Amino acid sequence: MADLFEVSAINSMKLENRFVRSATWEGLADDDGSCTPRLIALMEELDTGGVGLIISGHAYVSQEGQAGPRQLGIYCDELIPHLSKMTEAVHRQSGKIVLQLAHAGCRAAFDLTGKKPLGPSNTDKEDSSLCKEMTHEEIHHTVESFAKGAVRGQQSGFDGVQIHAAHGYLLSQFLSPFYNKRKDEYGGRIENRARIVLEVLGAIREKVGDQFPVLIKINSEDFVQDGFNVEEMVQVAAMLEKAGIDAIELSGGTVDSGKFIPVRPGKIDSEEKEVYYREAAKGYKEKISVPLVLVGGIRSYSVAEQLIKTGLTDYISLCRPFIREPDLIKRWKSGDKSRSTCLSDNLCFKPVRAGEGLYCYTAKKLRNK
Ligand SMILES: Cc1cc2nc3c(=O)[nH]c(=O)nc-3n(C[C@H](O)[C@H](O)[C@H](O)COP(=O)(O)O)c2cc1C
Repeated sequence: MADLFEVSAINSMKLENRFVRSATWEGLADDDGSCTPRLIALMEELDTGGVGLIISGHAYVSQEGQAGPRQLGIYCDELIPHLSKMTEAVHRQSGKIVLQLAHAGCRAAFDLTGKKPLGPSNTDKEDSSLCKEMTHEEIHHTVESFAKGAVRGQQSGFDGVQIHAAHGYLLSQFLSPFYNKRKDEYGGRIENRARIVLEVLGAIREKVGDQFPVLIKINSEDFVQDGFNVEEMVQVAAMLEKAGIDAIELSGGTVDSGKFIPVRPGKIDSEEKEVYYREAAKGYKEKISVPLVLVGGIRSYSVAEQLIKTGLTDYISLCRPFIREPDLIKRWKSGDKSRSTCLSDNLCFKPVRAGEGLYCYTAKKLRNK
């Protein structure tokens, strides 16, 4: 029976426990996407706080794929020296850190990039009318950008990379029939919609070698009408398994999913309200043997322990609880096993969007009372 604090491995990456800091846009990079001392200090704090694996905030692999202000970038070699300082800081304390590789697709920030957002299909929605259907050449170029980003991650000393194919960003848009209306070999049946994701994985693997951990984050479902669903998720997971992925993080939702967005608002004050994607994880585990990293609404030690002991997941991934308490795992390990104090009120987005960088807005407000 698996244990939360046992040593495990994802490919060549040895992990001290089964807790993961899920990718979190910190808004602490410089305007050009380069890593800053404040971002390094946050990673050190998380590592000291006891989490087994940190996944970086989504890093844009090409400039037209930037999603938000002060987002981490991985689009050129000049970014490597500063990122190396971040991985060195985490490794000094024997922690592990994986770089999340991303492209925002139709959700790219035109005001920051000055470039027309590219996605699987043109959209006629007013607020995203600028989104342009990618040509085959642009798809090929984007696949290469992911591979180059992975190589830069490896050169910067990251312990692995995670492909961001969730939450309605570019690769998730391709997977989803809600966003992907293409009539060519990248649209239509699920094998076609998954093509670009598998091309990205293949191109990365070819460049980084077999030993380097390559993870992916996908949606369990989109929670939109005619979106990507659990059945398709299991099919895509099987394709990724065959293609040699090392771990799959299961999330869900997109910006268009109403109350089922990836960061569901609302206090989680009972065990019943925890674990957004429990049923999807069950479906995954029936068919797939690649290690599962489960994220979304996990808040209690007892729930995390049960999830691991019953084999519903292999890793417990948390985001908002670590914004509130970067040392949550240390606290749990030391014997104080009370639930995370995170309120899931999403006020943490406020300072990030305002360019101040990530912190728990609610905790600060309470302290200043
Ligand atoms: C401030 C903030 C930034 C986020 N940035 C990312 C990101 O860069 N990449 C990503 O895959 N998910 C991102 N997420 C989503 C989380 O990784 C996670 O999937 C979601 O918050 C659900 O987990 P939780 O209930 O433990 O918070 C972000 C969430 C928050 C609150």
